[in-house]
Amino acid sequence: MCLLIQRLSLRDADSVARLRRAAYAEAAEFVVADPASLGWARADTMGLVLGVSTASELVSTMRGTILVDREDAVHTMECEFDVDRVSFPALLLGKGATVAGCQARGLHSVLRYLFLDAAAAVGIATVLGIVYEGAPRTSLMARLGYDLRPVQRHWYTDLLPLTRTIIGTLDAVGYATACDRLREMINFDALHLTIDPRAELAKTLSTALRDHSAAAHTFDDAAK
Ligand SMILES: CC(C)(COP(=O)(O)OP(=O)(O)OC[C@H]1O[C@@H](n2cnc3c(N)ncnc32)[C@H](O)[C@@H]1OP(=O)(O)O)[C@@H](O)C(=O)NCCC(=O)NCCS
Repeated sequence: MCLLIQRLSLRDADSVARLRRAAYAEAAEFVVADPASLGWARADTMGLVLGVSTASELVSTMRGTILVDREDAVHTMECEFDVDRVSFPALLLGKGATVAGCQARGLHSVLRYLFLDAAAAVGIATVLGIVYEGAPRTSLMARLGYDLRPVQRHWYTDLLPLTRTIIGTLDAVGYATACDRLREMINFDALHLTIDPRAELAKTLSTALRDHSAAAHTFDDAAK
């Protein structure tokens, strides 16, 4: 089967929302508190949403969000954690969803690999993910070298966790080993990339840094 890797956009909003809602509804580790939070949002447009599709449907997706500093990390992730162990700019990987019939075949891992490879190329200092104790991918993240630690406090508006929430962090020094391990799991012959994830992440990063610096200037001007 040939799998197409694409950057998803507003045009794909319906299929992204459908996939996220179906996958999240099946998860044993949380319940969805706000179904609207799974629809296409500004964070999807500002971030980088990748998708894996067969000829007929979107089967897996993941979103990368740039975090520019500590405040941005705590605000975006809606939790308190050891933010001191994060170096910036950082990349939060989230909104992962794979069609029920295609899970545990490495599709999410393909997207993680593309993000990590791109993170290494564009100078992302730390990659982060929020996971739930016992959830699929948690043991894989440990094998990839992520540092996994429980959050101290959270105020999530999208999900209601049923198990402990854990933050996984992987610093730049660990990208190469993680990518090597992921490469061993991936059948590249089955993949057809319609984009260059490194170039897409570079654009996303530069937009986020530009917006952050413009917002800081606006704040400075307002304070004068
Ligand atoms: C979380 C989720 C996106 C993972 O997607 P996936 O495509 O099944 O992920 P992968 O196949 O890459 O990895 C899942 C597991 O299968 C294993 N795996 C990967 N390729 C495999 C293969 N070819 N054969 C067997 N197992 C494989 C991985 O090592 C991983 O193992 P682990 O759970 O022990 O860590 C999916 O389970 C899902 O949609 N869950 C519901 C929604 C959800 O919880 N989203 C995250 C919200 S924060």
